[in-house]
Amino acid sequence: MCGIVGYVGPKRAVDVVLEGLRRLEYRGYDSAGVAVVENATVDVERRAGKLSNLEKALSEREQMTGTTGIGHTRWATHGAPTDRNAHPHVDCTGKVAVVHNGTIENFAELRHALEVGGHQLHSETDTEAVAHMVEERYDGDLAAAVRSVCKELGGSFVLVVAHADHPDLVVGARRNLPLVAGVGEGENFLASDVTAFIGHTRNARVVDQDQIVELRSDSITVTDLEGTVVDGEQYHVDWDTDAAEKGGYEFFMLKEIEEQPAAVRETLAGRLDSKGLLRLDELALSDEDIRDLEQVVVVACGSSYHSAMVGKYAIERWTRIATSVEIASEFRYRDPVVNRRTLLVAVSQSGETADTLEALRHARQQRAWSLAVTNTVGSTVARESDAALYTRGGPEVAVASTKAVMTQMTAMYLVGLYLAQVRGTRDPDEVRAHLRDLQEIPHLIEETLSRMEVVRELARDLSSEERVLFIGRHVGYPMALEGALKLKELAYVSAEGFPAGEIKHGPIALVEQGTPVVVLAPRHALTSKLVTNVQELRARGARTIVVTTDGDDAMEPYADHLIRIPDTKSLLSPLLTMVPMQVFAAEFAKARGLDVDQPRNLAKSVTVE
Ligand code: G6P
Repeated sequence: MCGIVGYVGPKRAVDVVLEGLRRLEYRGYDSAGVAVVENATVDVERRAGKLSNLEKALSEREQMTGTTGIGHTRWATHGAPTDRNAHPHVDCTGKVAVVHNGTIENFAELRHALEVGGHQLHSETDTEAVAHMVEERYDGDLAAAVRSVCKELGGSFVLVVAHADHPDLVVGARRNLPLVAGVGEGENFLASDVTAFIGHTRNARVVDQDQIVELRSDSITVTDLEGTVVDGEQYHVDWDTDAAEKGGYEFFMLKEIEEQPAAVRETLAGRLDSKGLLRLDELALSDEDIRDLEQVVVVACGSSYHSAMVGKYAIERWTRIATSVEIASEFRYRDPVVNRRTLLVAVSQSGETADTLEALRHARQQRAWSLAVTNTVGSTVARESDAALYTRGGPEVAVASTKAVMTQMTAMYLVGLYLAQVRGTRDPDEVRAHLRDLQEIPHLIEETLSRMEVVRELARDLSSEERVLFIGRHVGYPMALEGALKLKELAYVSAEGFPAGEIKHGPIALVEQGTPVVVLAPRHALTSKLVTNVQELRARGARTIVVTTDGDDAMEPYADHLIRIPDTKSLLSPLLTMVPMQVFAAEFAKARGLDVDQPRNLAKSVTVE
C-alpha cells in the first residue's frame, strides 16, 4: 500500500524513479509524485490519479536532470487523493522532500506542535508533518535528523527523504512496513519491493525494523535508531525483468493466470525425498512438536483467506488436527484461544498485510508456533514467523490475486500432507499417492486453460448483469467465495458466494428470473445434495452456470451452461475450479471496459489495519 522509490547514481533519477513507480503501481494508484535534487534545490512534481497523469505533467515541463531522486505512488489514507495531498511533501524551506508509506498515529499532536511552532502545513496528510520535523532537526546531517524524527513517530512507516543540500544522498527509514535496498554498481536503490529496481540489479539488501539507511551512489550504510552501524543480510533475486513485464499480454492478470501451471510446479519442486515422501525442512518444527500439536489456526485476508479455507479442509481430513481459519483482522480482537501447542499459519502473498501481521504477532505472544506461507522472500510476515514456507509463485503484479492463490493452496496441501506424514495419520503409500496427484495438477491446469474460450464467451454474454451468485459445497464453497470476490473486485458487480446448503436460509430471496448463479460442482460425494440446491434455484428462475468434472453427468440436466474441468481428487479440485472463476471475472471486467489490473479503490498490498 503506497509504493516508494529512491535512487542515487549516474542516471537521470526521474527516469529510474518513474520506471520503479510503474512497477509498484499495484500498491496504490490514487496519486503519484517525484522529487529530484538538482542545483541545490529539490524539484517536486506530483499529480492526483494514476501515474500516467504525472508522466504527462512531466512531459509538458522542463526536464528534471538531477541524478538523485525519490518517488511515490499512493493509496490514500490521510486526506483525499488530490494534487495537494500527493507525495512528496516538503517543509517550509522547500529543501526537504519526503515520501511515506504507512500511518503515523500521533500525527494530530505532531501537527499541532508544528503549527504552534510557526510551521505552515498545506496538506491533510500525516506525511507533511515529517518534512517539517526533519527541517527542525536538521543541522547538516540528514540521517541524524531522520533518526531523531523516527523516535517521535507512532504507528508504522517507511520514509524516504531527500534534501537540497545533498546531491548524492537519500535517507530511508523503516518501521513495520517493507523497505529494501537494491545494490548496484555505482548506483543504489531503495524501494518497497525489489520489482522496482529489478531492471537494474538483482542484488538486494534487507533493511530491518527501526533501521535508517543512507543511500549514496557508492555506498549503503544502515544504522539503528541510535546511529550504530548494523550488518545487513544481502540476497540475490532469482527472477528477472521478464517476470515483472506484461510479455505481450493485454493485462498482467491474464499473463499471471497463464503462468499458473509453472508456478505450481515451482511450489512443488525439490520438496520430495528419494522415497517420494515430503521434505519440508523449512517448517523448522521437530517431529515431536508436530506430534504434540493440538490445533492449527490459519489467518489470512482477501483471496488468501480462501486458500486458507481450502487448507483447513485438507489439514483436517489428512491429520485430524482441529483447524480453524480466521479473517486476520478479526482474530486478535476476540481474544482467541492459542497456546504453545498451536500451529499458527499466516497465509499472505505479500507477507506485509497489516492485519495478518498483527494476528501473527498476537499468536506469538501467546507462544504459538508460527509458520508463514508467503510468496515474498524476506517479507515481514516471513521474518517474524518461526518458519516460512515460500510459495515461489514469482512476482504477481495484477491487484487481483491468481497464481499467488493457486500456489498458496498448493503449499497448504503440502503442509497438510507433511503433518499427516509425521503424525502417521496417513500411511506413507497414501501420502505418496496424494503427492503424485498434486504433481499431475500443473498439467491439468494447462488442460483447463485450453478450455477457457467457452468461459470467455459466457462472461461477455453476461457482462451487463449487476448481480451474480456463486454457490458450492465442501471445497467448492471457498471457490464460490473466491469466484464472487474476483468478480466483485474486477467488475464492480454485486457478487456473493454462499455454501450451497445455506441458500435456502436467505440468499435465495435474491434470485429472480434470469439471475446468474455459478455452481461449483466438481465431482464429490455431496453432488446429489448440490443437485437439490440447484433445482431449488432453477424453480425460482435462476440461470445456472455449472462447473463440473469430466465424466460426471449428475449436474448436466440442471445446467443452463456447463463448464468442464479435468478429473482429479475432489479435495484438490480447487486448483482447477479456480481457473474458470479467474477467467470469467477478467473477461467480464474487460467486456465492461474496466482496468483489469488496477480495479478502483483497491491496492495489492494492504499495510494499514
Ligand atoms: C488485498 C489484495 C488481495 C489479497 C489481500 C491479502 O486485499 O487486493 O488480492 O488477497 O490483500 O493480501 P496478502 O498479500 O496478505 O495475501
